[in-house]
Amino acid sequence: MRNLFLLFFCTFLLNKTMAQNNNTDVHSFAQPQKAYITHLNLNLEADFDNKILKGKATLEYKNIAQTSQIHLDTRDLDILQITQNNQPIKFQLTEPKEYLGQALIIDINPQLNQGTLTIEYQTHPQAAALQWLTPEQTAGKKNPFLFTQSQAILARTWVPCQDSPGIRFTYTATIKTPKNLMAVMSAQNPQIKNSEGIYQFEMKQPIPAYLLALAIGDFEFAPLGERTGVYAENNTLEKAKYEFAELENMLQLAEKLYGKYEWERYDLIVLPPSFPFGGMENPRITFATPTIIAEDRSLISLVAHELAHSWSGNLVTNATWNDFWINEGFTVYFERRIMEAMMGKSYAEMLAYLGYQDLLHTLELFGKDNPDTRLKLDLKDRDPDEGVSEIAYEKGYFFLITLEKKVGRPKFDAFLHQYFQKNAFQGMDTEKFLEYLKKELPETQTIDLNAWIYQPGLPSNFALTLPERFIEVEKQLKKWKNGTPPEKLNTQQWTTHEWLHFIEQLPAEISTDELEKLDQQFKFSQSGNAEIITQWLQITLPLSYTPAFAPAENFLMNVGRRKFLVPIYKAMLKTEQGTQKAKEIYQKARKNYHSVATNTLDKLILEQQR
Ligand code: BES
Ligand code: ZN
Repeated sequence: MRNLFLLFFCTFLLNKTMAQNNNTDVHSFAQPQKAYITHLNLNLEADFDNKILKGKATLEYKNIAQTSQIHLDTRDLDILQITQNNQPIKFQLTEPKEYLGQALIIDINPQLNQGTLTIEYQTHPQAAALQWLTPEQTAGKKNPFLFTQSQAILARTWVPCQDSPGIRFTYTATIKTPKNLMAVMSAQNPQIKNSEGIYQFEMKQPIPAYLLALAIGDFEFAPLGERTGVYAENNTLEKAKYEFAELENMLQLAEKLYGKYEWERYDLIVLPPSFPFGGMENPRITFATPTIIAEDRSLISLVAHELAHSWSGNLVTNATWNDFWINEGFTVYFERRIMEAMMGKSYAEMLAYLGYQDLLHTLELFGKDNPDTRLKLDLKDRDPDEGVSEIAYEKGYFFLITLEKKVGRPKFDAFLHQYFQKNAFQGMDTEKFLEYLKKELPETQTIDLNAWIYQPGLPSNFALTLPERFIEVEKQLKKWKNGTPPEKLNTQQWTTHEWLHFIEQLPAEISTDELEKLDQQFKFSQSGNAEIITQWLQITLPLSYTPAFAPAENFLMNVGRRKFLVPIYKAMLKTEQGTQKAKEIYQKARKNYHSVATNTLDKLILEQQR
């Protein structure tokens, strides 16, 4: 009797935690308070001719509420058959909903508190997470390539699963590829190709579905350190080795700050340029854009960012997409601490200031009263992609800076270290964080937390002063404005960040002649640095500076990173001639972009919402 009572009590507690973690996720059909998955075994074959993945997903689940059905997320999947102990079992798919897809509701035995079921299925060629590239779209031009992007809710377009960041499971996988290609996943990875094209994977630590990842292509591995390495196509590998040579050092600096790295290896894969993001923190293997290879290591803060997610995001995970700042705000803070440790304070200050300016631009664009400028978002009935903005990243970062300032760095560091340790492998929502903060750092309660978290805009007493190195940039700018020719300016020691500030601060009413002279001296239009050329195009395209059009077209045809595409197209759309050009280019380039990018750009260019 007592045991039975205990059992009920435990079930009650478990229900309660699971419900807290999940019943507020408006972007998933899963009902983890009844039944949730604990392990996934994938067995898939990549069919490049038809652009489909096909095979089986075997799911182990726990049934904690004697429920007779388990609810999964799917979108654009063809479910062929579902079996349990080799017997077909009944299932239904609900009506498809835009971006959410369909609930897959499967009959299970209410008497058993756990079970295993096998789903035979295949993906659609248009699956939103998948980008199937032709050989021409790769660096080597000889072999096709496939990569996935599951965050935020695209995992369900290639794996039937419970696609909510509050639900974690371990996984194993067998992936069959064409014989000359290699596969990697967010798991233990091969370092050499095998002759059969069959690769086995294991992820022992439980992860949320948005961290499921797969890439298949003709790439090779090069070690960088004991626990670190890089995968890239053969003709990019040398450059990648140079660019990321500091990776092992970075990993050690990160551990020194906030504790042990829990994922064993940390590798990078350099993807083809159509990858829609700068980086994606897939556990054990960050997926990265080739646009961070600037050949001078000046853009590696992006790697620090993805590495930092190994703690903030992958260990302590935003419980829902409304709590996205819990992932990104902490990660930007951590990223800048790694960069400070590596490159010094003056460098990290530049990163923070550039972030601050991005934040001010976003606030201006959105409007200071816009509810989407609150840290805690409300994305009900909306695609969670709409919550991806500088707010989570930079307002989140400056909120954490405010906490740090209040309690002092040593105390804040101890707090964060413990935060990652105590909450590892768990979901974290905004409210749970606030409670934790109150308990651990009571001094912070005099801060206007409500304004930071639940109010739009920035608290009025917040401002950032110009860092040393940008004061120097502005000095040179002033000299130039007063007639000093570009070649006489003192810019020799500048890194990418000083250049970004220089271009950003150019006067609005600059003449074509002046632009040309700057361009001649500093070669902005020919810059191989994607950040610099984007900043330059953003300023010059609206001024109808014609020498910028060809490099803009070249960039837009070749790069698929949304963060660059959006401002460049927007800059073109500011003039009539530019609008014409933007539409022409988009028509040709669209096929090179991932769905994440076309989703945004279709609205911007085709539907003309500026
Ligand atoms: N996890 C994000 C990318 C992401 C966010 C994908 C939301 C899908 C939905 C990644 O860590 C990230 O923030 N990437 C940035 C890099 C950066 C240094 C801020 C990017 O891609 O630009
Ligand atoms: Zn991030």
